Amino acid sequence: RILILDFGSQYTQLIARRVREIGVYCEIYPCDVTEQEIIDFAPRGIILSGGPESATEETTWRAHDCVWSSGVPVLGICYGMQTMAAQLGGTVETSDHREFGHADLKPVCGPLLDGLTDDTTVVWMSHGDRVTQVPAGFEVMATSAGAPIAAMGDAARGYYGIQFHPEVTHTEHGREMLTRFVLTVCACDASWKPENIVDDAIARVREQVGGDHVMLGLSGGVDSSVVAALLHKAIGDQLTCVFVDNGLLRLNEGDQVMKIFADNLGVKVIRVDAEQRFLDALKGLNDPEDKRKAIGGVFIDVFADEARKLSADTKFLAQGTIYPDVIESAGSRTGKAHVIKSHHNVGGLPDDLAFDLVEPLRELFKDEVRVLGETLGLPHAMVWRHPFPGPGLGVRILGEVKKEYADILRRADDIFIQALYDEGLYHKTSQAFAVFLPVKSVGVVGDGRRYAPVIALRAVETVDFMTARWAHLPYDFIERVSTKIINSIEDVSRVVYDVSSKPPATIEWE
Ligand code: XMP
Repeated sequence: RILILDFGSQYTQLIARRVREIGVYCEIYPCDVTEQEIIDFAPRGIILSGGPESATEETTWRAHDCVWSSGVPVLGICYGMQTMAAQLGGTVETSDHREFGHADLKPVCGPLLDGLTDDTTVVWMSHGDRVTQVPAGFEVMATSAGAPIAAMGDAARGYYGIQFHPEVTHTEHGREMLTRFVLTVCACDASWKPENIVDDAIARVREQVGGDHVMLGLSGGVDSSVVAALLHKAIGDQLTCVFVDNGLLRLNEGDQVMKIFADNLGVKVIRVDAEQRFLDALKGLNDPEDKRKAIGGVFIDVFADEARKLSADTKFLAQGTIYPDVIESAGSRTGKAHVIKSHHNVGGLPDDLAFDLVEPLRELFKDEVRVLGETLGLPHAMVWRHPFPGPGLGVRILGEVKKEYADILRRADDIFIQALYDEGLYHKTSQAFAVFLPVKSVGVVGDGRRYAPVIALRAVETVDFMTARWAHLPYDFIERVSTKIINSIEDVSRVVYDVSSKPPATIEWE
């Protein structure tokens, strides 16, 4: 396995994704972990990520000495290369020749680049500093206009430094270079698959939990569903899931969750029908933030009530924390990660409820969690579903939430989503849903006048949900959906399609 030391690059997760895609297990540690943690991880090879700082300054982060004394190959990327050069006796200087974006790389020699191209190859650069003199034992392996030493290596020790980013898709042969480092230089086996963690995860959960009981807040979302399936396999009836039906779910969603988990898989699930409590708390609230707070507050109350009932013999709370959540909070230790949020699926439980946490997905990325879910027998459609926000339809009914609005929205949303599935468009969008607008508009149906609310359809394409483009769904498809919604739901006067991208619009309407 490979250890990635994070110096704060925005691409560090991408490096990990690539290494795992090659079939080799890896983890990211912040660059200031203790030496002992690095030694305990026992990596076959180490990758030093890029980072925002300058290796020309004395005070910036360096790799621990044990990285160099461990005898394993090391690949330094961007800042990682610069700190490698600085630490091993080379020279790094701030250059007037900053390079950002595409650059033509001319390979000279070395196992990462040999034979990749006859001439030059396109790589993605993002640097101000550059290595001006390689350390003793190193050779120049490639050059570019802005970086005469764009890659360097010491084959005897297995140390390589590259100024560009092989992990981004803009680097033409980036995947091949990483593959060569991991499989050839480090001699790792390409045998790791997310499914492999099932047995290991089961063993670890059993060891952690022993004969005790575990409770899990099951939402029907991918992460908590996969945790439920995994824990059920590991500890059977020692697991109790609590599924809070807040009345803000999609059409038939509560029944589906019960069918999959309780009926098909035989998981112990307590379904708490809390619709009225949520509706009461939302009464009179119009502001989106007030609504979110109210929904979150009731959720904690309802969940805590159930937890108290179970707490006498329950020591553990399971959570669907996944690897990006872990990295974000670990990154905060170096103060380098840019986005830092604390992720707790059931954060904020009262103090009298103190559980130990079971988090079996801590090492996995989202799509790996999905593969695992399928391995564990969860339905494909559930595992590859679009994300659904915690507050549910509460943020898709603009203004005050009322049951009759939720009922209309559920039906309209279902027509839209079913049509996307039927016409093979569901997986071409990243997220799609209907929104209820509580403004009435006039329509004419037959000879009658209809004066009813409006439904907006929203569909977006995005990779990270931070930015998104509205999905260019075919006009005739939108027309079919619109007709079906208006014809089958009396209380809708018209349907509109949202053509706003993010930014400046957000994906949800509230
Ligand atoms: P926005 O609307 O901020 O949404 O562009 C980005 C992604 O986050 C989801 N989202 C939420 N998820 N609780 C959640 O669990 C929330 O309050 C929430 N608000 C937005 C949204 O569905 C989209 O995938």
